[in-house]
Amino acid sequence: MCGIVGISAQRNIVKHLIDGLAALEYRGYDSAGVALLGPDGIVRLRAKGKVRDLAALQLETGLDGHCGIAHTRWATHGVPSEGNAHPHVSGQVSVVHNGIIENHAALRAELQAQGYEFSSQTDTEVIAHMVERAQRAGRTLLQAVQEVVPQLHGAYAIVVVSAREPGTLVGARLGSPLVVGLGEGEQYFGSDVHALLPLTRRFLYLEEGDVAELSTAGVQVYTLAGEKVQREVKESQFNADAVQRGDYAHYMLKEIHEQSQAVADTLEGRIAGGKVLTQIFGVEAEQLLAATQAVHIIACGTSYHAGLVARYWIEQLAGVPCTTEIASEYRYRDPVVREGTLFLTISQSGETADTLAALKLAKQMPYLAQLAVCNVPESSIVRESSLVLMTRAGPEIGVASTKAFTTQLVALALFALALGRVKGLDDARYADGVRQLEQLPGLIVETLKLDAEIKTLAERFTDKHHALFLGRGTHWPVAMEGALKLKEISYIHAEAYAAGELKHGPLALVDEDMPVIAVAPNDRLIDKLKSNLEEVRARGGQLYAFVDETVAHGLDAAHVVILPAAGEIAAPVISTLPLQLLSYHVAVLRGTDVDQPRNLAKSVTVE
Ligand code: AGP
Repeated sequence: MCGIVGISAQRNIVKHLIDGLAALEYRGYDSAGVALLGPDGIVRLRAKGKVRDLAALQLETGLDGHCGIAHTRWATHGVPSEGNAHPHVSGQVSVVHNGIIENHAALRAELQAQGYEFSSQTDTEVIAHMVERAQRAGRTLLQAVQEVVPQLHGAYAIVVVSAREPGTLVGARLGSPLVVGLGEGEQYFGSDVHALLPLTRRFLYLEEGDVAELSTAGVQVYTLAGEKVQREVKESQFNADAVQRGDYAHYMLKEIHEQSQAVADTLEGRIAGGKVLTQIFGVEAEQLLAATQAVHIIACGTSYHAGLVARYWIEQLAGVPCTTEIASEYRYRDPVVREGTLFLTISQSGETADTLAALKLAKQMPYLAQLAVCNVPESSIVRESSLVLMTRAGPEIGVASTKAFTTQLVALALFALALGRVKGLDDARYADGVRQLEQLPGLIVETLKLDAEIKTLAERFTDKHHALFLGRGTHWPVAMEGALKLKEISYIHAEAYAAGELKHGPLALVDEDMPVIAVAPNDRLIDKLKSNLEEVRARGGQLYAFVDETVAHGLDAAHVVILPAAGEIAAPVISTLPLQLLSYHVAVLRGTDVDQPRNLAKSVTVE
């Protein structure tokens, strides 16, 4: 999704604005732009395409300055083009915006009636004209923004600069994240901390409705009602190195190989003496878990798949009814909440608009509590939740989620085991679950040694247009995650089915051109899955089986990849790894943009 950087300093800062945009590239975008205050007013450069195109333009023109704003745009209103790229300008004012202004059409009509001319198809341009109009009526930049934002319906993070007040930047947020970075004699805005990590590690996280005015002298934050507030200064745990690609060809590959460490980090301090430490879910966790009669899990995309795996675990280990639902569906139906239900969101970014909206809705309903499993401290979802269990995957830059997914599974397994313990899970099964988690980091290292074998296998997929993924039980969502990975980065159409559903429809698709990928641990459903695979073989389908050694015997598949044997908790994590590697290598062979697949954004902050 869109990215914002703003800097007010006493030195030339265009390089830092553009570097900040480059650090935000992972969010997904289609055009980029920068606006600086020059001696004659606002000077702007914009380019369709990549940040490097904008950087080349800046080199050509030599544009520089001490105060400016920059943006990467992910098109919502209007095609990707230079004309629609931000910053947008109206007279002396320039603005960058993330989010969607839902009432832009009415505002545009009103402004046009007053003589304002529009040069883009975007919803954002109305903000530039509205701030300009307010300034022309005598408002300071701060007053102008404070006057404008209550008129905007929808979601926004904006930063505005005005040639009438050189050196001042005003930012505001509602529904889209915006942080303030604190420097020595210079201050910054960023849509996330990654944009600013080379400049500072001290941040103020703006809250919903906040308006912040910054200059080289400092920062002042106001509520939407205009009252001065202090927001706590937080030191970021991330450092700039964590977002470097190092020797890896792609962030995705780096992140796949970081999974052993990320899982170890997610487990650290959460298990002791063979037990999950219940207090990791909060000081009153014992009582909360005891009171939990049902769990509603809400998430999107990959995080939703993690939630689907957790549903099996929560019901199997704790005997507690659990539903897992896509956030964009949940928020627009009328969910029924029984007494004793815990609301659980899963999100890598903690900023996904639908998940955040579902959480806000849930806070008005009689849930026991709202637990977030999230990877970004200080994100909106973390701040809105009453309980938090952080995954410790570190920054995930590749749009395709990898280490975020496996660490989510680990966090959810901790939850299912802790809940199971309180609900009477037998000692042996509980101890075995904990042991499996402890062994996971080593098992991940083992499994990733299959990389070369999977790379060879990937060559068989490069000319394919479709693929079918099959699994049963917890491996059905694993198959869904495998299909999502393949489709999002290689653009091969892929579907996942619960293997038992095969003969109810999708079997009609199976022929020699349709690769069928099955993930099969040795669990109680293995014999049933083997029968399903026979159905595929009998129709001439090319079968690729990712199975543990205990299952491989007698399996009639074109290609069998043997995974380390793992139990009910570890197996979904282990089985996910070869599917990540497969889609990665297929995408590389097909020459797609692995880390920033077309049309996609890392952090989906609009509905
Ligand atoms: C998958 O690879 C994607 N990154 C996407 O499906 C993602 O999981 C989804 O947009 C939800 O994001 P979140 O975890 O940040 O909420």
